[in-house]
Amino acid sequence: MAKTVHIKSYGCQMNVYDAQRMGDVLAPLGYNTADDMIGSDLVILNTCHIREKAAEKVYSELGRLRLEKEQRAVSGRPMVIAVGGCVAQAEGEEILRRAPFVDMVFGPQTYHRLGLMLREHEKTGRAVVDTEFPPEDKFDALPTAGKIDGSAAFLTVQEGCDKFCTFCVVPYTRGAEFSRPVDPVLREAKLLVGKGAREITLLGQNVNAYHGETVDGEWSLGRLIRGLADIDGLDRIRYTTSYPAEVDEDLISAHRDVPELMPFLHLPVQAGSDRILKAMNRRHTSGDFKEVVERLRAAQPDLALSSDFIVGFPGETDADFDATMDLVREVGFVQAYSFKYSPRPGTPAADMEGQVPEDVKSERLRILQDELNAQQIAFNQSCVGRGMPVLFDRPGSRPRQLVGRSPYMQAVHAELPSSHLGDIVTVTIDRAKPNSLSAHAETPKREAVA
Ligand code: SAH
Ligand code: F3S
Repeated sequence: MAKTVHIKSYGCQMNVYDAQRMGDVLAPLGYNTADDMIGSDLVILNTCHIREKAAEKVYSELGRLRLEKEQRAVSGRPMVIAVGGCVAQAEGEEILRRAPFVDMVFGPQTYHRLGLMLREHEKTGRAVVDTEFPPEDKFDALPTAGKIDGSAAFLTVQEGCDKFCTFCVVPYTRGAEFSRPVDPVLREAKLLVGKGAREITLLGQNVNAYHGETVDGEWSLGRLIRGLADIDGLDRIRYTTSYPAEVDEDLISAHRDVPELMPFLHLPVQAGSDRILKAMNRRHTSGDFKEVVERLRAAQPDLALSSDFIVGFPGETDADFDATMDLVREVGFVQAYSFKYSPRPGTPAADMEGQVPEDVKSERLRILQDELNAQQIAFNQSCVGRGMPVLFDRPGSRPRQLVGRSPYMQAVHAELPSSHLGDIVTVTIDRAKPNSLSAHAETPKREAVA
């Protein structure tokens, strides 16, 4: 009888991609993916370790799962609980000490061996921990992508990070920087397009550090984007997340020359004070960041920018924080993520002097978010009355409503028949809300047909 697996992902988009690939690994073993955790034979928490809050969520979810598992055991239907992702990588055996009812613990580099782990667990009845960084290439071992969800797909092209920002756990949980060779990336992209993807977001912790092998030399991310743009039926390309110091001319010119490359870029700056950026080991000053943005905007004047910010990094003074605010006002962002600094065990910043009190962090975050929200709302407002192509890839919450993404990553709602799912429709924006736009289509026409 077919079994069911529920995979719950936390954190970044790479985890979303990994969850899909876990589904691909489990499908040939008879597992169908289920939306509901309750009643699933296998539950995988695909975890995030980036901030303390993210990591703690896992343990509260595990508390709930424990009760479910106990109830299921009474009725003779066992439930396997697995913890994957970056908390699993960072904590390994520790998870079993805190939550002894967990059956499997595996890292982001070992999920291609899920079948082996399940078999071992079944055979021995004991918990299995697999958090090695295996020498074999996970990507080579993964089956080809199965069905895709909607018409916008993720494709991981690069993993790991060697930048060692002093606040960040990624280099420890995801390992060293690694780029997938070009051929398998192009093959996977064609496969996704064959299955209905019209937009692909290239993923990497440091995606613009991409340097993929080919038989005659390496391709940069800019070159890869040009290669992908040649695929028939692939209408939109995005990439995330980028490291400012590694934005090169190839990538900048791709923004100028490749119409499929969407005019939206997530480029984390973290802070505006050069002193803090240095303590963060960021390898860019605020001046460098502004210069990169200037070059990008010269190549693509329509470019909308997003970023990540950390407030309350150790040693951050009021003046340092003001420098962040100055940068935000000067550069302008259409959306952004901002966080209070969260000390992570094992990272250099966790042991730095000058840890900032919680109330100061909260106050700075509020001031920063007020400004970022105001900028986001102003940008959304500026879209009212404009026509723009939207890829509608999800049904909306109301009947006859579809939801899609604008070129600038805004969520756009419009009344459209469901036959337009997966279409790029040019719509006129009627109303702007803080986090979404509503729009109408005059005479809904499929762009591909028009
Ligand atoms: N390049 C990575 C960025 C890593 S994490 C990527 O794949 O997106 C995403 C963001 O989380 C970072 O840009 C940073 O702003 C934030 N972050 C990372 N470590 C943090 C910490 N210890 N405390 C608060 N925020 C953190
Ligand atoms: Fe983390 Fe810095 Fe790399 S934020 S992912 S160490 S670029």
